[in-house]
Amino acid sequence: MTDFLPYGRQSVDEDDIQAVVEVLRSDFLTTGPAVARFEQALAAATGAEHTVAVNSGTSALHAMYFAAGLGPGDEIITSPLTFAATANAALYLGTTVKFVDVETDTGNLDPQLVAESLTERTKLIVAVDFAGHPAEYDALRELADRHGAILVADAAHSLGASYKDRPVGTLATATAVSFHPVKPVTTAEGGAVLTDDADLARRARLFQTHGITRAQDEMLDPDEGPWWYEQHHLGFNYRLTDVQAALGTSQMARLAHFIERRREIARQYDAALASLSSLELPGRRPYVDPGWHLYVIRVQEAALRRPLFEALRSRGLGVQVHYLPVYYHPYYAQLGYQRGLAPIAEDFYARAISLPIFRAMSDDDVSRVVEAVERSLRELA
Ligand SMILES: Cc1ncc(COP(=O)(O)O)c(C=O)c1O
Repeated sequence: MTDFLPYGRQSVDEDDIQAVVEVLRSDFLTTGPAVARFEQALAAATGAEHTVAVNSGTSALHAMYFAAGLGPGDEIITSPLTFAATANAALYLGTTVKFVDVETDTGNLDPQLVAESLTERTKLIVAVDFAGHPAEYDALRELADRHGAILVADAAHSLGASYKDRPVGTLATATAVSFHPVKPVTTAEGGAVLTDDADLARRARLFQTHGITRAQDEMLDPDEGPWWYEQHHLGFNYRLTDVQAALGTSQMARLAHFIERRREIARQYDAALASLSSLELPGRRPYVDPGWHLYVIRVQEAALRRPLFEALRSRGLGVQVHYLPVYYHPYYAQLGYQRGLAPIAEDFYARAISLPIFRAMSDDDVSRVVEAVERSLRELA
């Protein structure tokens, strides 16, 4: 039996390990100077003016939504072709989620359909950069501005990608990223909110530490004494630790390198799989430089998805399916969402298989995947 090849895996080197060990020997384990350094590294890499590190991508979404002013009675518009966290974080705030269908080529939110779905309750348009391919930010920005809504991004997949030469982190009013191990860079668990809006960043920072401020100029009773601090909002403990942040800063130094390798792998898949007529390869807009978090092929015939998936698994490939439309989950079904809501996302899901793609894959690994796909398709023909 050949080695199992997962669909994604972290790359941790000796520098990363050394960086973590140094923090373990220092005075700070939880949030301290290493978190500040990590936030600076994120700002430098993305061009975002303010960066707030938190303990997961989900926390980043929750903090970003809160900071953007989302609350009970409001509505967000987002894509159903995403991980449940994109929508869950809005439900945490007592908000309604409206799922709008996606574009057939990229699987990203369709601006045309967003335009038709805006209501006076729409507070946020939440773009999801599916598979690391940035969404249609110019069109979504125009809609948001015209409607008085706020455009934010779930960029859990797309740190290091760009759209019209503008980096992810500057494309929306605020951007949430994730540092889960399969993501572009990792802190084990972690996330961040990136924004140019100082007030939004301030609110996100408050939210990740119980809604408590220690800033003298923000307090209602600043003269009580030097021990005094005040809680102004109902926040959470969403703080990242220095141990994790040290890993993140060390990883950030290799972000461009990680993404370049993913792009190379995607090019190899594109070239090797293009002639297989039973497959559709991932779409890519010419003005976008995707981060290739995922490489999602779609079979032409939905009936072929399960046998091909099983054949690839039996050959030791950790293929996955991204994503079942969020409203397929029983939790969402019991909230009243019905199948048929977003036919393009449903069709995308029904035909999708994510092939392995990660920085440490060798060219031989790529060839192994290609051969497994070719052979499996021949056997299933
Ligand atoms: C699109 C998307 N949004 C949000 C998240 C949540 O990130 P985390 O796992 O860091 O909480 C993920 C992670 O899988 C994701 O893929």
